[in-house]
Amino acid sequence: MRSLLFAPADNEKKLEKALASGADAVIIDLEDSVALAAKPAARAIARAFLADNASRAGRPRLIVRVNALATGLTDADLDGVLAGAPDAVMLPKAEGGMSVQHLGAKIAVREAEHDLADGAVKIVAIATETARGVFQLGTYGGASHRLIALTWGGEDLSADLGAEANRLTDGSYADPYRLARALTLMGAASAEVDAIDSVYTAFRDADGLKAECEAARRDGFVGKMAIHPAQIEIINAAFTPSAEAVQRARAIKAAFDANPDLGVIGIDGEMIDLPHLKRAERLLARLR
Ligand code: COA
Ligand code: MG
Repeated sequence: MRSLLFAPADNEKKLEKALASGADAVIIDLEDSVALAAKPAARAIARAFLADNASRAGRPRLIVRVNALATGLTDADLDGVLAGAPDAVMLPKAEGGMSVQHLGAKIAVREAEHDLADGAVKIVAIATETARGVFQLGTYGGASHRLIALTWGGEDLSADLGAEANRLTDGSYADPYRLARALTLMGAASAEVDAIDSVYTAFRDADGLKAECEAARRDGFVGKMAIHPAQIEIINAAFTPSAEAVQRARAIKAAFDANPDLGVIGIDGEMIDLPHLKRAERLLARLR
């Protein structure tokens, strides 16, 4: 998933626009973008939207962001939407592998109730929205077969830290958020799941978004969340592996396939060994 576009679940017009935006995934949001009083109506809209679109060919992945476990709203969210068989549930304010297991158990009950295959509904965790969550980033490995990706957020974290701002005057992230971002990459790699970059909230700033996407790709993120349809084309372009990168990955794979007994090979004057092969295989896997 290169691009994951949020749309508030109580806004049918935005849900439809998000579906047609070219995003690889639509995140149907029941959390922060929906007021408390609107949550019951939002659940009903989300469920109808899932039912209308689940079997549509070529659709983006449909992910529902539920309310955090600590809110006491998660069960009602899952009761409201699981019958629509979303591809995944996004867990905000996740606090490590235990929280993913906790959500997984809740999902499993509803899968059984609605005759869905066991494990069909995956989990994407937003892993840095609380300081406690940041300290749990190393605990996702092996927690649940449902977990497919980790992402991070700097808005709620700044509230938890009591910070005045999360970016410096030049637009770059302040240290606590750079740490959270980097640890998300480490946590995702150690859990062997995808790392997805956080949102870029200045949705009219295409250049700033592009620069942030390129930095994310460089560091190992495979996609980015979005809040506005205008961000999708930029994100998809940045996270689509270039023809050059694909060709190089294929060359590395072919060289090792042809020489299964070698641990290190020279290609175009550069030493290529197992970490390069692993990286090449990961890139090729993303093309499927
Ligand atoms: N998904 C689908 N459609 C969206 C959209 C989104 N996330 N954001 C904007 N649009 C639509 C608007 O409805 C509008 O449609 P219209 O031309 O048919 O009226 C069009 O795109 C242009 O929108 P624009 O006027 O540029 O922005 P806005 O002021 O209407 O909305 C936000 C700005 C931030 C409120 C809106 O982008 C939004 O709701 N984003 C998602 C918020 C969210 O889910 N946050 C939680 C995660 S952090
Ligand atoms: Mg939030």
